[in-house]
Amino acid sequence: MTSPDLPAELRAALNARLEGLSRSDAAGRAAVISQTYREGGGSSTIRTETDALAYALARMPATYAAVAASLNALTEIRPDLAPARLLDVGAGPGTVTWAAAEAFTSLRDFTLLDANGALRTLAEELFHGSIRLHDASYQLGEARALLDKAEPADLVVASYMIGELGDAERGALADALWSKTSDTLLVVEPGTPAGYARIIALRARLIAAGAHVVAPCPHDSGCPLVAPDWCHFSQRLQRSRAHKQLKGADVPFEDERFAYVALSRARVENRPSRVLAQPDVGKVEIAAKLCTPEGVSVARIPRRARAEYASARRWRWGDAVSRRPGLRRDP
Ligand SMILES: C[S@@+](CC[C@H](N)C(=O)[O-])C[C@H]1O[C@@H](n2cnc3c(N)ncnc32)[C@H](O)[C@@H]1O
Repeated sequence: MTSPDLPAELRAALNARLEGLSRSDAAGRAAVISQTYREGGGSSTIRTETDALAYALARMPATYAAVAASLNALTEIRPDLAPARLLDVGAGPGTVTWAAAEAFTSLRDFTLLDANGALRTLAEELFHGSIRLHDASYQLGEARALLDKAEPADLVVASYMIGELGDAERGALADALWSKTSDTLLVVEPGTPAGYARIIALRARLIAAGAHVVAPCPHDSGCPLVAPDWCHFSQRLQRSRAHKQLKGADVPFEDERFAYVALSRARVENRPSRVLAQPDVGKVEIAAKLCTPEGVSVARIPRRARAEYASARRWRWGDAVSRRPGLRRDP
């Protein structure tokens, strides 16, 4: 399992760049960048190296945690997966590349694509001292044009990226991502209803093109959730001192909400159910909302079913769990 917290090498590389940085200036820039994201304006306000660093300090720990959690869900279902080549599309400061390098010792070849020069400069500086990543190839330009020329990769990832595209471009990019995926494609988005809607549209489009879901869904059918419900998960991560200062936060942790889908060229047999919310542990029973191959239901595990109850007590939101026969399930 990959830790949700930034690896020590990356933390040290980021810390080294903090010297001489005015925290109030960085906090101001990070606030403008976040506001622009909330308004749907994408990464356009990240223009200088200081903007890029402010963005990385404010958001990289959380997007890293979401990607690490998604990769953990993927490797739990596909423990055999040993990709050699990664394509990190909309790579920004290199978040996915760091997380994938932690998750897969098999990775040898790292290619990053992004249109933002300031984020590329920062990513390359962060890679500089890393034995595994200092040879990573970071190509600057429009994602679809770069993908056109890219070699296929075993693992293709687009994290917190497709939300920056218009609807038509997003569909075309989904096809381009899939066309360069020789094994697995992972797409991660913010855990908002809009982020989920983008994931679900891409999922449906690529299943129609022959993809199979590895995680989070235990099936390739349409998503059974009905609005206003939406599928999303939460990953807790530690806040560094610099992050607390930047965000003006008191608590030493942060919970990142995210939505994701991992799609594979091969069909995955016997996919486990997925816990869709933190289970309700009561005195009489545990009630857990599950996505199962047959649809969404609430599993009720009575205390008297001692072994099952003990095992369900360990279930957490986002876990893959095997359904046991004989458990009562509400539709
Ligand atoms: C929110 S950042 C996410 C960065 C990184 N993947 C992460 O998870 O931390 C989105 C990135 O996608 C890039 N991007 C958005 N649209 C793009 C496009 N059409 N072509 C290339 N890069 C794009 C932006 O420049 C930005 O670096």
